[in-house]
Amino acid sequence: MAIAQRLDGKWAAGCVQADLKRRVEELTALGVVPKLVMLVVEEDEVSLGHVRRKARFARAAGIAAEIRTFSAGGGPEALRSAIDHLNGDDAVDAVLVQLPLPPGWDEVEIVGRIRPDKDVDGLHPENLGQAAFGRPRIWPCTARGVGELLRRYDLPVRGKAACVVGRSALVGWPIAQWFMAHGATVVQCHRQTPSVAHWTRQADIVVSAAGVPGLIRADDIRPGAVVVDVGLTYAADGPRGDVDPSVAERAAWLTPVPGGVGPMTIAMVAQNTVDLCAMRRGG
Ligand code: GUN
Repeated sequence: MAIAQRLDGKWAAGCVQADLKRRVEELTALGVVPKLVMLVVEEDEVSLGHVRRKARFARAAGIAAEIRTFSAGGGPEALRSAIDHLNGDDAVDAVLVQLPLPPGWDEVEIVGRIRPDKDVDGLHPENLGQAAFGRPRIWPCTARGVGELLRRYDLPVRGKAACVVGRSALVGWPIAQWFMAHGATVVQCHRQTPSVAHWTRQADIVVSAAGVPGLIRADDIRPGAVVVDVGLTYAADGPRGDVDPSVAERAAWLTPVPGGVGPMTIAMVAQNTVDLCAMRRGG
């Protein structure tokens, strides 16, 4: 039996970085250096790791990327005033608040405080609303990253049946919206779906963003499907995705974990930064 081809996010992210580097060089020649500022709670080691990877990628593309840390014990007020300051700083193109925030901090209010035209995550209600009305300013990074990965492998979306497993505000919901906006027929499964496999079996493209290791098995997949694993759980034996390795025997294309969607999400932070910069400052 044929084994699924690998959708290599590391390779695709490298291509994105090379393209961005050229675009940033053009902007820099006009005197414009795209600037990204990421705000993170210092006690959250996982979040710190994520923003460091995002900063490293962005800097390699020529973007000025900064990380500012906040203490969970200090309360959300310092984070709020940093956002207000960055909103008013003309040199800053993109602001990211790494989630999750400590318990009791109002994530919706805090993300909604970022100026929509500097919201690099595309999570501000205005940006989600613009996307829902078919006029997206910026797509959330994971959704855009999945789309860009499929595009780099020439895998079509328009007219296909896509099944998205998971409906989180950060990942599952925007991914389903992205597929719908790009011409797929979308089924979104979640915790209350009686039989997730009933829906995944009919899909040309399955995207799993449930955070449940091994949730998607070979029997749940139509032969020849494209399977995108957005799940990432840190198990005792290392990082695990939602997709069981047996799926490789049935799918035509499959993302690895790690090295699939993760690098693409990181790449899209840089891509969105440059797009926001060009939208706001021209170029
Ligand atoms: N936490 C996990 N993924 C993300 C992301 O893409 N953006 C933000 N802001 N926080 C995250």
